[in-house]
Amino acid sequence: MQGIGRRYGRIKVYAVLGDDEAQHAKNNMRGALFHVDNPGPMAPIAKGNFLDVNQALEVVRFGIQYCDWRARQDLLIIMVLHNKVVEVLKSLAIEFKSNGTLRKELAELQEELAKAHNQVHLSETRASSALDKLAQADNLVNDRLLQDGGSSASIDNYVSLASRTSSASRFVNKKTLRPSLDVSGPVQPYNPNLKNFWYPVVFSGDLKDDTMVPIDCFEEQWVIFRGKDGRPGCLQNTCAHRACPLHLGSVSEGRIQCPFHGWEYSTDGKCEKMPATKLLNVRIRSLPCFEQEGMVWIWPGDGTPESTIPSLQPPSGFTIHAEMVMELPVEHGLLLDNLLDIAHAPFAHTSTFAKGWSVPSLVKFLTPASGLQGYWDPYPIDMEFRPPCMVLSTTGISKPGKLEGKSIKQCSTHLHQLHICLPSSRNKTRMLYQMSLNFAPWLKHIPFMHILWSHFGEKASLKIFRATWWSLISMSSHVSLQLTTVLNEDLRLVLGQQERMINGANVWNWPVSYDKLGIRYRLWRDAIERGANRLPFNNQSHSLGARSASILSRRSSRQGSRGSISLSREMGDSILSSMRHSLQSADQLLGDVDGSILAQVIDSGDRGLAFENDVDEEEENNVEDHQAVPLPDDTSMRIHGRSSQGTSVVAPVSAMKSKDTNVNGPASSSIKVEPYKLSWMQDYASYLIHLAVFGFLGVFTRYGLQKLFGPSCLALTSDQSPLYLDLPSNMLGSFLMGWFGIIFKADIRHISDHLIVGITTGYMGSLTTFSGWNQKMVGLSSKDHWVYAVAGIVLGMFIVNESITVGAETGERLRGWILKCIIEKSSIGSKCGWEDWRVDTRTKHYALLGVMVILMSLIWILSIVLAIVKVHSLGHGAVLWLGCSVAPPGVWLRWYLARLNGGGIGIGKRRHLKWLPVGTLAANVLAAAIMAALAVTAKAENTRRLTTVLNGIQLGFLGCLSTVSTFAAEVYTMRRSGQITRAFVYAAATFVLSFVLGTLIYSVPVWVEHY
Ligand code: FES
Repeated sequence: MQGIGRRYGRIKVYAVLGDDEAQHAKNNMRGALFHVDNPGPMAPIAKGNFLDVNQALEVVRFGIQYCDWRARQDLLIIMVLHNKVVEVLKSLAIEFKSNGTLRKELAELQEELAKAHNQVHLSETRASSALDKLAQADNLVNDRLLQDGGSSASIDNYVSLASRTSSASRFVNKKTLRPSLDVSGPVQPYNPNLKNFWYPVVFSGDLKDDTMVPIDCFEEQWVIFRGKDGRPGCLQNTCAHRACPLHLGSVSEGRIQCPFHGWEYSTDGKCEKMPATKLLNVRIRSLPCFEQEGMVWIWPGDGTPESTIPSLQPPSGFTIHAEMVMELPVEHGLLLDNLLDIAHAPFAHTSTFAKGWSVPSLVKFLTPASGLQGYWDPYPIDMEFRPPCMVLSTTGISKPGKLEGKSIKQCSTHLHQLHICLPSSRNKTRMLYQMSLNFAPWLKHIPFMHILWSHFGEKASLKIFRATWWSLISMSSHVSLQLTTVLNEDLRLVLGQQERMINGANVWNWPVSYDKLGIRYRLWRDAIERGANRLPFNNQSHSLGARSASILSRRSSRQGSRGSISLSREMGDSILSSMRHSLQSADQLLGDVDGSILAQVIDSGDRGLAFENDVDEEEENNVEDHQAVPLPDDTSMRIHGRSSQGTSVVAPVSAMKSKDTNVNGPASSSIKVEPYKLSWMQDYASYLIHLAVFGFLGVFTRYGLQKLFGPSCLALTSDQSPLYLDLPSNMLGSFLMGWFGIIFKADIRHISDHLIVGITTGYMGSLTTFSGWNQKMVGLSSKDHWVYAVAGIVLGMFIVNESITVGAETGERLRGWILKCIIEKSSIGSKCGWEDWRVDTRTKHYALLGVMVILMSLIWILSIVLAIVKVHSLGHGAVLWLGCSVAPPGVWLRWYLARLNGGGIGIGKRRHLKWLPVGTLAANVLAAAIMAALAVTAKAENTRRLTTVLNGIQLGFLGCLSTVSTFAAEVYTMRRSGQITRAFVYAAATFVLSFVLGTLIYSVPVWVEHY
């Protein structure tokens, strides 16, 4: 044996050849067998230079192994990236990196994860391709078994198959290389070798203490009944006295009584009672009889019974729902042939279970070379022939009678069927049928459910034979089916085959690839009947002693029996399943990271405070530990002493309890001062006050920009153009959001958490307004200026996008410059005053809070007073002061709604769309709807005072409730994270919902009422 191969990268691919073949291959050097990145022949194989089937199998095996290796690498990469994400977040928490750094590092990781994602899909496709090639190679091997006859030493015991009905060798026609078995009639008596097996003959439930079950087995009549000890016995069904059938009698006290003269026999065949005459030593034949797992088994042969009985229990998780027995007028081999064939279903069962099935372009039965079990393709059916006469199948179904998926593993519900074909006589079979399901076990306990199941069984069973009016039906007592006049779709065909077989036709005249399992059954049976020393498919040999629970559980152990295809579709499925699981995990992780970024980096509202009730202030303020605390593994990270419950990954914020630290770089001083924390109530109030004060400032700025750029001054913006009045404020707010909301957010937060919330949520949120923007576009569309409206949306989105991008980039540079200055100052011994600004003492907290309270009170009171005066007199500035008066509720409501960001949609753990900033979306859509309602009200009433009041509310409350800056920052974050689709979906959802609502509320009344 020699090897020939080539090296591709690190993978060296060999084809294992015989000596002669290796030399031949070397001389011809056909080139690469396959490329590791693109498995498959590198160059067309020259005519007459085909790979041997075993070589082909080797090539495919290497392909599978490579795919396996590749898949493991993919999984490893994803795991490494997963750990990196966790580490990044962890280090961010410890080192208190800026949000800009967070964004950048996570964006890089997401990019790598996206690449790994694509690589997994590539491997998945590659594995599927390799598995298809494996199946084709396997078909080649099996076809070779038929064609080669006795040429292979490995199959020399059964290639000389001769039918039990003919002395001529009819298995192989070597002259024509036509694959053929000879199974032609007339039907001969059963070969004794076939009897030397345990045969299940009766369901235990059918055998009561006082009943008996007559059976025919291998042309002989037997009767089964229970003895005194309850154990079953099997006696010859013929009385020793005058050959009266015993089953016409009765069972009494563990003995069967002949109806003719009353002789009574025990389960061992001994006659124990002879009424009206002297008891003689009389005995009739009995068979070894055993009861196991709900069935009674007999050993009809002359050989020593096997010490073990194979298990026929359904796989774990299945519940038996129906058992029935039928007597069918066909030879059991023909019946088994039919049961082992699925390819005929779209033709023979067009009125029952296969109704509507299309005819596949190719039907295959995929199986290891040494097995009697495998998988149907394209049907989600696993099937096995279990010697001596059993067929087990597992079918993936969506509902009774419906097939689903290409593999049973792709199906959530399954039907398991057991067909036992007991050879009764040369033209009669006793068939025991058992149906199990792995879903809805409670159905078994519903009264009369067995009748319904029997109906489903008829439809869903792939091979259950429906009895005809002439067939002898013996149903199990607990499944008392009355199938009488049902058209038999299979039986008429098998009977026709039987008739022709008796007249000399060969029922296996021209087998093709999908006949594989039936052919294997015939090869096995022929070897048994010939008394071959070595059985084919020896994993299923005569000496089948190992107990086995199911096809599913046996499969994996059998796959290793032949090295050339030790990696089978099962392994491929496992690989694909693992890859998909990893992909889901990666997606979940990415989703969580996105949600966390959006919720924590951009705006999370008061969520962090909402769970703070149980924080013990004294305990918090007396912490002496100045070291960074270990990061918890769960989701309860600390956000400046707040719990960030609601996110599923660690939050990218500080986990420090103390105020140690190198906050903004190595030059930062390390001041060991215990930070003071306000009580929860004070904390919450402080946030609200900061929001109100900065909200006032935002309204003032926006109003000033409206006037500056509006028609009364620079005339760059107007209500009648795409350059709407609030465009400058939206631009400025988005730009500043790039600075303070993204780049400097962590730095400012380190100084004061209240301050950063006031600046971002309060000031920039109030400075920008989505509702005003949307309303202007709705107003334009209501006047049929659709082009302006669309242009206003597109142009506005583009401008705010660019604004925040410029803000983030310039902010990044500015921050770098500031850090550089700090480091330089530190290096020359200058004290950096950064920490001095930090609000971490009681005094600073209360001082800041006091200033803010005073500012808020002054501005608010002043605004309210001036608003009343101005509105009353309809004087100049009425809208501004009224807007300021109602601004705080707007900004507070938006901050409250922001708690929804990053939390996803759903209940409990079933939350989805964590990446979607639901809070911001809700605030903007709500504000847009209210804005439209107020606008149409102003149109309808059309009084100056009312219009002024409504404009004031729009400017203040709605302007502060809606925001463009946060919206733009969220879209920007998604974009920079590589989530382009999400960014688009979020932006589109915001605009579509707002615009549609605005149109319905504002434009429709305007159009209808002609305001
Ligand atoms: S025939 Fe059975 S007892 Fe006579």
